[in-house]
Amino acid sequence: MHKVNQRLGVTDALYASRHMLEHAPSAGLPETGMEARTAQRLILDELNLNGNPSLNTASFVTPWMEPEADELMLKTSSINFIDFHEYPVTQAIHQRVINMMADILHAPGTHGAEQNHPAVGTSTIGSSEAIMLALLAHKWTWRKQRQEQGLDSHKPNLIFGGDVHSCWEKFARYFDVEARVIPLKVGNYTIGPEDVEPLIDENTIAVGVVIGTTFTGQNDDFAGINELLIRIKAEHGLDIPIHIDGASGGFVMAFTHPQVAWDFRLEQVRSINVSNHKYGLVYPGMGSVIFRDASCIPEELVFNINYLGGEMLNYSLNFSKPASQVVLQYYNFIRFGRVGYTRIMTSIMRNARYLEERLLALDRFELLTDTAYLPVVVLKLKDGCAFTVYQLCEVLHERGWAVPAYSLPPAAESIAVMRVVVKENFSRDMADMFAINVENALARLDEDQPRRRDQPAKLEHPFC
Ligand SMILES: Cc1ncc(COP(=O)(O)O)c(C=O)c1O
Repeated sequence: MHKVNQRLGVTDALYASRHMLEHAPSAGLPETGMEARTAQRLILDELNLNGNPSLNTASFVTPWMEPEADELMLKTSSINFIDFHEYPVTQAIHQRVINMMADILHAPGTHGAEQNHPAVGTSTIGSSEAIMLALLAHKWTWRKQRQEQGLDSHKPNLIFGGDVHSCWEKFARYFDVEARVIPLKVGNYTIGPEDVEPLIDENTIAVGVVIGTTFTGQNDDFAGINELLIRIKAEHGLDIPIHIDGASGGFVMAFTHPQVAWDFRLEQVRSINVSNHKYGLVYPGMGSVIFRDASCIPEELVFNINYLGGEMLNYSLNFSKPASQVVLQYYNFIRFGRVGYTRIMTSIMRNARYLEERLLALDRFELLTDTAYLPVVVLKLKDGCAFTVYQLCEVLHERGWAVPAYSLPPAAESIAVMRVVVKENFSRDMADMFAINVENALARLDEDQPRRRDQPAKLEHPFC
């Protein structure tokens, strides 16, 4: 019998082991360890309680890549990206990715036959770091100019709309810059030149313009703001840069609307960030910032580091990180090319429009944005509904969908919306299933007349 058990591996079966009869280690470091397979099983079982990334319509972040990319990820995650001296090939691949990003964004001298020098920019851990680096560069440039002219340089300000992601306010607070925030209005959730002009003065380090806002997926008036800043330059001699936040919309617009000049084709645009882990179609952990040219980064911000062997230039807020995301972005670029990206983005837009039509056909919603530029469907319940979007999203959650419900920023906070971000993995079939689940949820809420809730549910930690 003992022999049989041994052959079957019963004595060391995972779920019969001592560790499966005890609580998971959580308070302090356990004195002794456990079998590798047991540790892995324990963690995997707990992770099952996470939501399913494929059903997460809240996030713009890529939940799926091809098996070949998965393999590359596994093979490159132990390479420390920052160690250029030991891993020079990673660095060369990084520069190729930056060159291709600059080409996509029409940085001067980096695309087509004009290509004549390496593009200027860097990969980051996401758009937040990219935005901080860009705005820091603009702050330093502004300060240097003021100091050279013998002018006061203690009160920098930054202009952006209430439609920005929180990282813009984070930058202002962390780096001591006055945030001049343009409040939104009910019915108008983006900003234009008429909002920006009254806020501009000689201490403005930059104006933020969003392509694909977090809240409604719309674009700020990039052309109008560019024209305004050109006029101000001519009339007052103030050369104020635009930073374009293309975290969510940059990759989509570049391929679905190549003829629209929202990028470095606009004179005042000096820097652009995108999240490669969104519509760059790479797993989480990668964004990038691209500058118009080298003159946009003050040399004091670029560190020359020699303690990893050899000399290397570094412009980042963090230091060590895996090389895998950069490699994966390169994989996608050479795997899909411009034609492939265009096809993928066009398909995503078509599925988003289809979903939008299906949801509007239920005759219960008003559309806030018309999926013109970003595959995001943002809806509010029609006036007079007995329940809120918060309750609707809670019922959808029971079916496994993660759908965010939120109020818009000031002064449009009276509007509560739900948002569905359509990504590559969101097929026509998933759109059908989602629409059916919404229809059923609406019917159930109509019948139940639930307790009214006007706030999102508080996030509960599952184990503490
Ligand atoms: C417009 C915009 N900017 C910045 C960010 C921050 O991006 P990341 O998560 O890559 O740091 C987001 C995130 O969704 C965004 O939508």
